[in-house]
Amino acid sequence: MRRLADQWNEYLCLDAGDGEKLEQWGPYVLRRPDPQAIWPKDSGYDLWNRPDAVYHRSRSGGGSWEFRKTLPEQWKIHYKGLTFKVAPTGFKHTGLFPEQAANWDWMSSLIRDHQDEELRILNLFAYTGGATMACSAAGAAEVVHVDAAKGMVAWAKENRDLCGLENRKIRFLVDDTEKFVQREKRRGRTYHGIIMDPPSYGRGPNGEVWKFEEQITPLLKACADILDDHALFFLINSYTTGIGATVLDNLLSCILLPDHPDGTVETGELGIPLQQRRMVLPCGIFGRWQRS
Ligand SMILES: C[S@@+](CC[C@H](N)C(=O)[O-])C[C@H]1O[C@@H](n2cnc3c(N)ncnc32)[C@H](O)[C@@H]1O
Repeated sequence: MRRLADQWNEYLCLDAGDGEKLEQWGPYVLRRPDPQAIWPKDSGYDLWNRPDAVYHRSRSGGGSWEFRKTLPEQWKIHYKGLTFKVAPTGFKHTGLFPEQAANWDWMSSLIRDHQDEELRILNLFAYTGGATMACSAAGAAEVVHVDAAKGMVAWAKENRDLCGLENRKIRFLVDDTEKFVQREKRRGRTYHGIIMDPPSYGRGPNGEVWKFEEQITPLLKACADILDDHALFFLINSYTTGIGATVLDNLLSCILLPDHPDGTVETGELGIPLQQRRMVLPCGIFGRWQRS
C-alpha cells in the first residue's frame, strides 16, 4: 500500500531526479540531495537552474547550503491547522519531513473519532514534533515527546507555540528512547498510541548507540508492553536501507499482534507526488497497527 502526502498547500515537491529533489517550502525553492531519486530529472524544467538555495554534499561527509538569494534564517509553513518553523540546517534537513503528513492525517482522524476517550500518546525519536502537534491538536489528552537532542526538543517547543498548543498537555523529554520506555514499563504507565520514527543510526543524550537492525526488536517488545489494553494505534516509520515493508509487517505481526490481537496491521511506502510529472518520490516505509 502506498500512502501519499498530497494535502499540502505550502509545500510541493516540484521534481526529483539525478540524486536530488527540488522543493517549494512556502515562498522559497530549495534543491537538495535525495539518494533515492536515481532516475533522470526533468532537465527541461527551468526551476532546477533557479533555486533559492542548493545543498552541496562535501566529499569528506556533511555538506553546506549555497544561498543564491538572501533567505531568512527561518520561516513558517502551514499544514491544515498546524504551523511549523522551517530552517535550512547544516545537515540538509529543514526541520520537517513533509511525507509524514500522511501519517499525521491518519492519527489525527483516529484521535478525532475517539474524542470521548482520554488518549495518552507517546512520540519516540520525536524530532521537531510534527506528529506531537498533530496528535495534540486533534484532541489527545496528553502527548509525551521524547528525543535525544536538546536542540530538537527546543525546536519542537517552538512548534508547539506556533501551533497555539501552549495550554495543551504535552511533556517534552530529552532522553534515550530505550531507557525511557523501560522506565515507563517499570512505572506501569501505558499509552493509547505510540509513534516512532527511528533513524538508521543515532545516539542517546549520553552517547547510547542506536542501530536500527540491532535495537528495533527489543524496543518494539518493550513498546508492546506499554501499549494500553484499550490502545488505538501504533506507528513505526523506517528510512533504513534494506528494511522493507514486509520486515515491518513481520515485526508487528510477531511482536505486537499476540498481545494486541484486537487490531489490524497495514504496511507500505510513504510518498510525495511530484508536481512536474506524474511520478512519486518514495519517502521511506511505515507499519501501522490500529484497533479494529
Ligand atoms: C529521523 S528523525 C525523526 C523524524 C520525525 N519523526 C518527523 O517526522 O518529524 C530521528 C530523531 O531521532 C533522534 N534520536 C536518535 N537516537 C535517539 C535515541 N537513542 N533516543 C532518542 N532519540 C534519538 C534524533 O535526535 C532525531 O531527532
